[in-house]
Amino acid sequence: MLNWEDTTTTAKPDPMTAMQEQSGSSVPASIMHAAQDPATQDQANRRVRVEDKRVINAGTDVNQLVPFKYKWAWEKYLAACNNHWMPQEVGMSADIALWADPKGLTDDERTIIKRSLGFFSTADSLVANNLVLAVYKHITNPECRQYILRQAFEEAIHTHAYQYIIESLGLDEAEVFNMYREIPSIHDKAAWSLPYTQSLADENFHTGTPEADQRLLRDMIAFYVVFEGIFFYVGFVQLLSFGRRNKMMGTSEQIQYIMRDEAMHMNFGIDVINQIKIENPHLWTAEFQEEARKMIIEATELEIRYAHDTMPRGVLGLNAAMFNEYMQYIANRRCNQIGLKEIYPGAENPFPWMSEVIDLKKEKNFFETRVTEYQTGGALSWD
Ligand SMILES: [Fe+2]
Ligand SMILES: [Fe+2]
Repeated sequence: MLNWEDTTTTAKPDPMTAMQEQSGSSVPASIMHAAQDPATQDQANRRVRVEDKRVINAGTDVNQLVPFKYKWAWEKYLAACNNHWMPQEVGMSADIALWADPKGLTDDERTIIKRSLGFFSTADSLVANNLVLAVYKHITNPECRQYILRQAFEEAIHTHAYQYIIESLGLDEAEVFNMYREIPSIHDKAAWSLPYTQSLADENFHTGTPEADQRLLRDMIAFYVVFEGIFFYVGFVQLLSFGRRNKMMGTSEQIQYIMRDEAMHMNFGIDVINQIKIENPHLWTAEFQEEARKMIIEATELEIRYAHDTMPRGVLGLNAAMFNEYMQYIANRRCNQIGLKEIYPGAENPFPWMSEVIDLKKEKNFFETRVTEYQTGGALSWD
């Protein structure tokens, strides 16, 4: 039992021991090693200097946020907080009525909604688990971690949003939530990404060697560039196409907010990947670049297959063939963003309106429905 008298008589703990106890396994091995190695003891104990901070394998204290080195990470954290939203704020009554009306939507339109929810309802949990269980502990920079913590919460909000739509429409939850096991084109996207997170979540995995650091980089490309940057985009175009035709407006609005968050997640991941490259140029070998391009090609093919599977016929002014070019255009963009050679020269964007939606500002709503203000401290009661 805690005795308040103890604090005055107990010797001050060694700061490294205290940090270890406070942070548990979240303190990178590099810091612990630094503390035990007399040659690097100085760096571990002295004040944090900007020039010593690193995205991976830093010897600096991960518990100390400032001085900032990566202002882009902190600015993204602030921007993400400014974008805060919750699924219950979006009115769903028109969607519920349309879904319940037997003539409200065609069978093909219903298939798209159900498949999208089937994919997304588990995809965001997969991304969150990768962040929390695999990536977070290996990122040794506090401002990047601050953004990752915010991102993890946003992934929870996204899973909540999909659950909220599924519940609002009265869909068969077992059918939708099991699609990632039972529908091959959905299963294959999740299955593609799993090995990247599983190897990193292995408790014996540590960064600090070129092979291990490349493994981390591979996971980040798989999740930030492929999963959040490629695998979400057929579903986003499909669901937003309902809203553009004045159908399922509540669902479309939820997707707009999710897509805005996702665009920032991806851009953060790309900044992290590029910073790791700058700090560790030896990792970005010709072989590794070829491997990364191969990952993007595989993912593009899986996403095109998903488009054809969810859209056997033209619907909502879309057809599956349009997605062949769209996904090739997206794949080229992702290559450019992380400094890889383009894969599909000349591919163009058949959906230029998508970039306008991604740039959505909270106060300027695409579908002219209203976002409510957030309850802050004023709503608390201490009674
Ligand atoms: Fe998400
Ligand atoms: Fe995300």
